[in-house]
Amino acid sequence: MEYHLALIGYPIKHSLSPWIHNKFLDKAGLRGSYKLHEFDQASSFEENIKLLKRKKYDGFNVTVPYKQEIIPYLDEVDPIADKMGAVNTVVNKHGKWVGYNTDGVGYVRSLEAAYPEALLNQDCRILLIGAGGAARGIYCALRDRGFSRIDIANRTQTSASDILELQADHGNCTVLSIQEAEKALKDYDIVIQTTSVGMRPNSKDSIIQVANVKDKGIFSDIIYQPLKTEFLSQAEAAGAPIHFGHTMLLYQAQYAFEKWTDKKVSLNNMAEELKLLLE
Ligand code: ATR
Repeated sequence: MEYHLALIGYPIKHSLSPWIHNKFLDKAGLRGSYKLHEFDQASSFEENIKLLKRKKYDGFNVTVPYKQEIIPYLDEVDPIADKMGAVNTVVNKHGKWVGYNTDGVGYVRSLEAAYPEALLNQDCRILLIGAGGAARGIYCALRDRGFSRIDIANRTQTSASDILELQADHGNCTVLSIQEAEKALKDYDIVIQTTSVGMRPNSKDSIIQVANVKDKGIFSDIIYQPLKTEFLSQAEAAGAPIHFGHTMLLYQAQYAFEKWTDKKVSLNNMAEELKLLLE
């Protein structure tokens, strides 16, 4: 079979997804293509969806600003994506559109690839900074993997509390202010920065000042532009192992590709190659 895959969103001209998925097709020895299908801003969303249906893609990714808007047009939504209220991957199953969200699992896979031992101890304490879409996905994926000591720090604390509500059982998870989290950094085995603070062009900003860190406590940022954020630079200077955001991009794509093709491709040196493209 030949796979016709695409990305929908706007604007998407600079997306790295075609580079990633066309490599995956190659690696998996499959025929097909992954194209950019930018939504026409002069037409309505419905008209864009009609055109998309006619294309009969076998699968597509959904990016900003349509991750929520696509949901009413799907025939089925996977429980995690439903909980998150956002879909980034759609599989065309015999004409029916089924929606998934691969961000959370992708993030956890990327962390596990870099620090396999970090995910062995389900008792470890995790701090999630931020409470947007990415944080929701990562929280659900970590809870699914059995972690139950996850604290969430956010400027708007009600959004952090809403994330805890995604699971009936809150485990030992609590909500913190950013200031409280800053003071408590050395209590955490893994600290994950998911806000947009520090993203280019505001690369000098950091949501939190990192000074005291736990011995072997890992610091991770999902921002990949710049690759080494101010948050990661401070963590590194404090002696912490760090984890870069571009790998999440690769692993969420790996999981999406698996949903479309049933094949799990290995990434080999793609993280290094992507790093060079981003630098
Ligand atoms: P995404 O869905 O990509 O994760 P988002 O929903 O816009 O993005 O979430 C952005 C996150 O960055 C939120 O946690 C947001 O905090 P609030 O919930 O308080 O808005 C955080 N954020 C963005 N700009 C911020 C700033 N200047 N200071 C503190 N937090 C900020």
